[in-house]
Amino acid sequence: MARIVGGLTTSHIPAVGNAIAKQLFDDPYWKPFFDGYPKARTWLDAVKPDVAIVIYNDHGLNFFLDKMPTFAVGAAFEYKNDDEGWGIPMLPPFKGDPKLSWHVIDSLVRDEFDICSCQEMTVDHGFTVPMQLLWPDYAASGIRTIPISINTVQHPIPSPARCYKFGRALGRAVESYPEDVKVVIVGTGGLSHQLDGKRAGFINKEFDLMCMDKIVGEPETLAKLSPLELVREAGAQGAEFILWLAMRGALTGKVRKLHSNYHIPISNTGAGMLVLENAA
Ligand code: DHB
Ligand code: FE
Repeated sequence: MARIVGGLTTSHIPAVGNAIAKQLFDDPYWKPFFDGYPKARTWLDAVKPDVAIVIYNDHGLNFFLDKMPTFAVGAAFEYKNDDEGWGIPMLPPFKGDPKLSWHVIDSLVRDEFDICSCQEMTVDHGFTVPMQLLWPDYAASGIRTIPISINTVQHPIPSPARCYKFGRALGRAVESYPEDVKVVIVGTGGLSHQLDGKRAGFINKEFDLMCMDKIVGEPETLAKLSPLELVREAGAQGAEFILWLAMRGALTGKVRKLHSNYHIPISNTGAGMLVLENAA
């Protein structure tokens, strides 16, 4: 049977794509950010997952305001990267796992999540930057991917509770797959940031650290936040934290924090990352 071996979270700031292209790993601005990732990669090298299910938000590349699914699940053989406007270097396509995708889609719909299935899906920085950080040698890793996009862009966005329950249903879907594959769930985006309006540049360190702490052992507390409370505390784009909660919902074993990192600011964002083990 398929097994969810762990969950990872990371911010997906586009400027990181440029910093990677320029190899700025030891630059004083970037070092405290990049220093968080080698431990995650060492864990991934040891665990060797076969599939990464990447829960991210599309930022206007594949979906726009005219058609905005709340939950969209990739079911393609490959996922092409394109640029929705940040000008970061583009990456080669990412390999899919359509068989597992269709199993997940089937299970989610039977579980009353009426998702949008996507046999074509282009992926933006919300997907690619975390993939670069976690699998810098992606081609050699052999890992297959399933992107899942949750709307954080156009209100009404799904509530933290709904995303947590979505994660629960995703966990049931994966763990009912009869093949022996090891799966990691990645939740991207966050933590606090607001890119526009009167509060542009808003970061809430206290709230971010509280979320990073409680998501390990008390995720239900965070799932009680309303979308409005989340926007108030984390900023308009900090609402991306619902993607972390969806990831956490999928982990139903013994969850243990292995590594974490938090640094502010990276671009306009409180940059956080977590590695959670999901033991049987
Ligand atoms: C930034 C953060 C994001 O999550 C994003 O999607 C775009 C930009 C930033 O901090 O620059
Ligand atoms: Fe974002």
